[in-house]
Amino acid sequence: MGKILVTGGLGYIGSHTVVELQNAGFEVVIIDNLSNSSLEVIDGIVNISKQKPLFEKLDLRNKSEVSTFFQKYQDIEGIIHFAASKAVGESVENPLLYYENNLNTLIYLLQECNKNEINNFIFSSSCTVYGEPDSLPINESAPVKKATSPYGNTKQISEEIIFDTCSVSNLKSIALRYFNPIGAHESCEIGELPLGVPQNLVPFITQTAAGLREQLSVFGDDYPTPDGSCIRDYIHVVDLAKAHVVALQRLLNDKGESNFEIFNIGTGRGSSVLEVVNAFEKVTEQKLNYKIVDRRPGDVISVYADTKKANEVLGWKSEKTMEDSLLSSWNWEKKVRNI
Ligand code: NAD
Ligand code: WQD
Repeated sequence: MGKILVTGGLGYIGSHTVVELQNAGFEVVIIDNLSNSSLEVIDGIVNISKQKPLFEKLDLRNKSEVSTFFQKYQDIEGIIHFAASKAVGESVENPLLYYENNLNTLIYLLQECNKNEINNFIFSSSCTVYGEPDSLPINESAPVKKATSPYGNTKQISEEIIFDTCSVSNLKSIALRYFNPIGAHESCEIGELPLGVPQNLVPFITQTAAGLREQLSVFGDDYPTPDGSCIRDYIHVVDLAKAHVVALQRLLNDKGESNFEIFNIGTGRGSSVLEVVNAFEKVTEQKLNYKIVDRRPGDVISVYADTKKANEVLGWKSEKTMEDSLLSSWNWEKKVRNI
């Protein structure tokens, strides 16, 4: 069996996926440029799975270095492509950075797939491609709406680039549309470590509880939802990581119904911001300092996954609860801050 290349494998979702791949018996080589991660993540991975993944520090925007990588590693059997820039607000301020990092890297990898007959490719997509859904829960055949940020647009364009490439080559690909990944590995060896002020809800909650942030702002309580706050589908990162292993096995065993497939990866349950806050307080016994503020521009009101296709076709189902996720996030935060 050949190696599996995991790009962005030292990042949040990538590191959890490397662990699950190694646990499932795959030999992994990671490419990461450490722009949003650190080398210590490798130690965390080794402490959990007792195996050291191969690692190449490389910027995927460098086409010739990407080419040299594939000359060195001639036995890559599949690629899971996580490496990307992911901050929605930053993408609005610096769109070219996002188009360059999220599209060039994909194109260079796909060119190498064609050149080297690597035919199994998994792509990190996002529920952001759906925009504000017309009906809920949202399934994979719902229309892709005009992106509200350059980041979201890169995910839409990437899916199209992959689709077009699959149409004219032997490439088989699965795009996984993640909903809102949260949580950390239960060992507390790896987790999410955002640089600077967190943009996402759960890291902001845990940093507030840890005393790094004074107060959580809840962005709006006047939405047309039962408690007025926005609704999302929060999925445990370990469940999400496992979906990649199942998707990879589907590609390697040639089980796909077409050479480009898309699956929603969520829990199928929608939770409001206030429900998340209350669940966090309950499960961690921490009182959270929060206040209701204005809506955040660009937020959709409510989005959660129809997971039927992932459950029935992919054979994957989320297992962990919101409480599991929030407790693991809190345990990770405590470990990182020595609390
Ligand atoms: P992350 O930032 O933690 O991980 C991405 C990793 O890629 C980082 O380690 C970074 O250093 C690396 N990287 C970035 N650009 C690179 C380049 N040019 N060359 C080499 N390495 C590079 O992000 P994450 O949360 O683990 O997200 C992984 C993927 O999932 C991304 O494609 C992201 O867009 C997608 N996604 C994330 C979420 C989320 O909420 N976290 C939701 C939906 C989709
Ligand atoms: C969740 C809810 C906020 C912070 C983003 C990207 C999406 C995907 C996942 C990559 C919303 C509210 C948040 C805070 C709050 N990433 N909130 N106070 O916006 O659903 O999705 O990350 O693909 O593309 O857009 O996630 O965690 O930022 O917000 O009240 O300090 O929490 O308004 O309702 P979001 P999030």
